[in-house]
Amino acid sequence: MSKVNLDPYDHQFHWDPYPHYKAARDNDPVYFYEPGGFWLLTKWEDVNRAFRDFKTFINTGAVALEADANEKLPYPMFIGSDPPDHTRQRKLFAPMMTPQGLSKIEDWIRQKAIALLEPHVAAGRMDLVADMACFLPMDVISNMISVPDADQDKVRGWADDLIARDDKQVDLGERNVSGYTNLAQYFERHSALHGESARGDDLLGILMRAQAEGAMSHPEVIGAMILLAVAGNETTTKLIGNMAYRLWQHPEQRQVLVDNPSLIATAIEEVLRFDGSSQIIVRRVGQDVEMRGKHLKKGDRVGLCIISANRDEEKYENPNTFDIRRGSRDHMAFGFGIHSCLGAALARLETRVVFEELLKRIPNYEIDESGLRRAHNPNVRGFTHVPVTF
Ligand code: HEM
Repeated sequence: MSKVNLDPYDHQFHWDPYPHYKAARDNDPVYFYEPGGFWLLTKWEDVNRAFRDFKTFINTGAVALEADANEKLPYPMFIGSDPPDHTRQRKLFAPMMTPQGLSKIEDWIRQKAIALLEPHVAAGRMDLVADMACFLPMDVISNMISVPDADQDKVRGWADDLIARDDKQVDLGERNVSGYTNLAQYFERHSALHGESARGDDLLGILMRAQAEGAMSHPEVIGAMILLAVAGNETTTKLIGNMAYRLWQHPEQRQVLVDNPSLIATAIEEVLRFDGSSQIIVRRVGQDVEMRGKHLKKGDRVGLCIISANRDEEKYENPNTFDIRRGSRDHMAFGFGIHSCLGAALARLETRVVFEELLKRIPNYEIDESGLRRAHNPNVRGFTHVPVTF
């Protein structure tokens, strides 16, 4: 009987996967997950190698872990491509996603965060995810691609449909595919509506200009819109919920942060390391490779278990200690290498602004643990509901 029981499709597993990942690191670090038919890498060194060696661990055909993902999710998202196609598309967006490029929207984000928080302050209770964190990232990315306010709930609902998995569901279901199809159809209409007019310096302008000038094909533009709407939304929402939860679990650390607001950036890095919102990222094996005695064959699917790597005791001292002063910048919560998260600076900015405003208003919130609910997905990790009183 194996000492390892890794099951990223088991809902119960998501509540506390860390002991299972430790067992895998100790006993079977390059683990074959039979029900899904793919490998899981759990050590920091191996995950880092896979991120770096983009010729052996490729993204083409690796949109999602599920075996049938390529057939069922046909729009070409650039996250699922390799150089030179990937380089050609990514470089179009990179300049505006830097901290400098984003600094001009910080005040706007702050006003949005305040507007979401303020109505609840007098009530003494709110749901930090369902009343606030689920709205802000969608609002920000919608603004960048000109999705009107009236459509945001729909788009967010489809993104939720795309990622939701029933307990032990290892293939894509009807709900997932229809979420994706609805997003694709919506963005087809959206690009037709804005095609001629959008030439600004926001993300929509970049996409439309790229299409007009032949730097991106039309399907690539639709794929990029879907990618931005999903990636820009789900993981940041979940990071905010994870941070609220971990600060509440460690009230002495929360107090340190309240007393020293300048620690906010290192606190966010520690939450990203300790309980990041992207659990597993997927690759395909591009050429046969051996890892720790296991033979991975060309075409195999591989999950890079980021949250396990970030708790690897060979990399971090006391990895299970949550320490907002730790200051480690080498976690892989945003991936690493050529595909590393395009929205990392934006996610950090949104999370910082939210906690600056939240902790000013309600520093001593209490979480009602019985009301916590999780999203269940092999990649996205975090809560859909975090009810608090204060
Ligand atoms: C806490 C929030 C976030 C987390 C934890 C996160 C995590 C990640 C990770 C791990 C990757 C690497 C994927 C790979 O190697 O295949 C990635 C890529 C990506 N992320 Fe994020 N992300 C977050 C927020 C965002 C935001 C706000 C945006 C929106 C603008 C975004 C857009 C993207 C895109 C477009 C890619 C693909 C980059 C490429 O293939 O070159 N992400 N993200």
